[in-house]
Amino acid sequence: MAVSVKNVNILYKSSGLIEKKSAEIAKTMYTILFDLHPEMKTFFEGAPSHQHTLLAETISSYAVNIRNLHILKPALEKIAKTHVEVGVQPHQYKIIKKVLLLSFKEVLGKDATTELIGAWDEAITYVSHMLIGIEKKLYSEINT
Ligand code: HEM
Repeated sequence: MAVSVKNVNILYKSSGLIEKKSAEIAKTMYTILFDLHPEMKTFFEGAPSHQHTLLAETISSYAVNIRNLHILKPALEKIAKTHVEVGVQPHQYKIIKKVLLLSFKEVLGKDATTELIGAWDEAITYVSHMLIGIEKKLYSEINT
């Protein structure tokens, strides 16, 4: 499963816009997340205050490196390690994706076209699958 050529082009074209707004998108994401899913708050209690920026950086690096997602592999390995330390579970990725797309719509307004949201949906699904796969391996190593 990969991101389609059509969507890669849409993501690439939207990367400048997303990068400019990434801090605002990340901040909005946490507000919506804690509003819709207060049970997720406990996960982020110990998170460093620069967490917003880290997530924002990851979002913008998807956009910038979307044609070469394998470049992101070492960064994803590090994120997966952190996720396993705090006990992130596969089903939570759907929640994060939903909330992230809602934040795109809120921050980008009319620039968040159906096409753009569709392309990001596919990209976040792809990255989530990569992270879930790495995390599954790390969890099984802990349990053996
Ligand atoms: C595509 C989806 C996701 C991306 C791109 C992402 C990205 C990141 C990044 C960049 C970090 C910082 C990693 C580090 O400094 O080592 C991080 C940490 C974290 N992520 Fe995610 N994440 C995703 C999904 C999730 C999900 C589903 C959860 C569920 C609760 C989650 C919870 C956390 C927590 C709690 C931390 C911070 C841990 C700490 O430092 O205390 N993330 N994530």
